[in-house]
Amino acid sequence: MHRQLVPEDITDLAAARWGTARDPRVADVMQALVRHLHDFAREVRLTEYEWAAGMRWLVRAGQISTDKRDEFILASDVLGLSMLVVELNHRFDQRATPATVLGPFHIDGSPQLRYGSDMADGVPGVPLYITGTVRDLDGEPVAGALLDVWQADAEGAYEAQLEVAEARLRAKYTATAEGAYCVRTIAPIGYTIPMDGPVGELISRTEISHYRPAHIHFRLDAPGYAPLVTHLFREGAPYLDSDVVFGAKAELVVEFRPREPGPTPDGGACGVPWLLANHDFVLQPIS
Ligand code: BEZ
Ligand code: FE
Repeated sequence: MHRQLVPEDITDLAAARWGTARDPRVADVMQALVRHLHDFAREVRLTEYEWAAGMRWLVRAGQISTDKRDEFILASDVLGLSMLVVELNHRFDQRATPATVLGPFHIDGSPQLRYGSDMADGVPGVPLYITGTVRDLDGEPVAGALLDVWQADAEGAYEAQLEVAEARLRAKYTATAEGAYCVRTIAPIGYTIPMDGPVGELISRTEISHYRPAHIHFRLDAPGYAPLVTHLFREGAPYLDSDVVFGAKAELVVEFRPREPGPTPDGGACGVPWLLANHDFVLQPIS
């Protein structure tokens, strides 16, 4: 004789089945996932129509994804899940530079450039120098950190979104023995996340702004320190208080100070007005 199944039994039964996973971590994660999914369905009293719409949405997210576009990661970004996971996994000291999302536009293997070399290399825009020192928690310089830098152009497009043969607006710089770095590039602008897929469709049904404030991405690596994935944001930029992926943090906002044509921080010169941003990155030691 079969026992009558009531909704609570379905949840317990499904969780118990997934709890048989041989890897204990998989068992824990899957049991929690089952319980939270079931609670969600109960809380909103999910209809069959809504369930089917959700399934179709997931299928379309898969169909629009390519090796250069991941609609599921974008969904995670706009739901705040990506930033939450970053925060759960990078509980740095208060003095350390905070981590943010990597985003979908990082490309491995950027060219290595010298101190102050131009990673824009002819891409139109207002010249921008970013300088500073890589430091430890006590403020002491960290020698020789590797800075992997990437950004959108003055139209808001990343290399990964364009058909280009050469590296564009991305480079690696090595900090000096005194921890100093100098990036030459162009000023980025704010841009919209891709809106032509299922994530965009959902966002269009809300009052959510689909823009990110103007920023430059950094990944810093130095032996003995936790890798740091972060951004620098332009002070005063639109959308700083409504970043669609929740990445903007006060500690990462820097002034882009206008400079007249003349000498630049790398010992060279710029023939047109340019911008100067200064920021010291503080790395978290690996304990
Ligand atoms: C980015 O900053 O490049 C980015 C991050 C998350 C979603 C879309 C873009
Ligand atoms: Fe970005």
